Amino acid sequence: MATMPALDFAHIPHPAPTPEATRVAAIANPGFGKTFTDHMVTIDFTEGRGWHDAQLCPYGPLMLDPAASVLHYAQEIFEGMKAYKLADGTMALFRPEQNARRFNASARRLAMPELPEELFIEAVRQVVLADRDWFPPVEGGSLYIRPFMIATEPFLGVRPAKHYKFICFLTAAGGYFKAGAPAVSIWVSNDYTRAAPGGTGAAKCGGNYAASLVPLGEGMAKGFDQVVFLDAVERKWIEELGGMNLFYVFDDGSIITPPLTGTILPGITRDSLLTLAREEGLTVREERYSIDQWQADAISGRLVETFACGTAAVVTPVGRVAGEGMEFTIGSGGPGQLTGSLREKLVAIQRGLAEDRHGWLMKLGSSSPAL
Ligand SMILES: Cc1ncc(COP(=O)(O)O)c(C=O)c1O
Repeated sequence: MATMPALDFAHIPHPAPTPEATRVAAIANPGFGKTFTDHMVTIDFTEGRGWHDAQLCPYGPLMLDPAASVLHYAQEIFEGMKAYKLADGTMALFRPEQNARRFNASARRLAMPELPEELFIEAVRQVVLADRDWFPPVEGGSLYIRPFMIATEPFLGVRPAKHYKFICFLTAAGGYFKAGAPAVSIWVSNDYTRAAPGGTGAAKCGGNYAASLVPLGEGMAKGFDQVVFLDAVERKWIEELGGMNLFYVFDDGSIITPPLTGTILPGITRDSLLTLAREEGLTVREERYSIDQWQADAISGRLVETFACGTAAVVTPVGRVAGEGMEFTIGSGGPGQLTGSLREKLVAIQRGLAEDRHGWLMKLGSSSPAL
């Protein structure tokens, strides 16, 4: 873990905060990823000097040199996490140190500087407390947090940059999928893969998502919600969705999820569900599962549920799967029993409604920093 002395955050007041009536209207029906709050944190990095100039400032456009190397060579990484509001009004994060660690693992893969874990968490804390009034008063509402880092040094030439900017902003979030959707439908991408061995599949870098857009567009054009990627070598093993990990539930109550072999993102929801399922005494295996087996097991009834999981969508049942020359339904095509109970257990911990036996919640308090 990278360590450094704490940085003081300069607080730059917003010259014209969003009027209360506008904010209240925006968060009443926030959707996902469209309603941004008033503030953000920025911290700069310069080779030889390290991280400096931390500030909590008004949310707004960035000034970037057109030669900034992120725009050409895509040195960019990000995280996705949520702040929840507990029953007593306290804001809380869920396992934020895991996001900080994964951020630094992504940084190492992209030849970027690591941000000390405590600075990452302090940045998140500052912006969440500053904009806690943006918390949407809707079922399943949260403040979705987007920490990211870009290479800002202006130069052309392929080498790691010497200047970077870390930014953290928020979006008021309701549900990720269309309200009322009982289960998602999935298109199996035949022509495209997401990540190859030795590539960047385990890093959360923008390039991975750019490469997933053509297959996602194909799936959506055919009426599917998401695309599932197969491994790049044998085109046989199921990896993950464009933004979620997968779990399979069998009729004997056992569960499989693909192992972390470097080509899929090590999801924090995945890890939490593995822990909760094992605690319940379920047999859980981190094991490769093939697309043919998935189809055969769904048809025979051996496979009873499949669910996708991630911070944004939490736990979402998969109902229908199709690809070139194949189509099958999982279980009844709707939410399965274990999918529902694992989701409930996880959400109860995240909302402070169940005992937090693993110390996963980090409470942030309820007062805002002076701005
Ligand atoms: C490709 C991919 N897989 C899995 C996940 C789920 O990860 P987490 O549970 O940490 O949100 C995400 C979301 O961050 C993702 O983008």
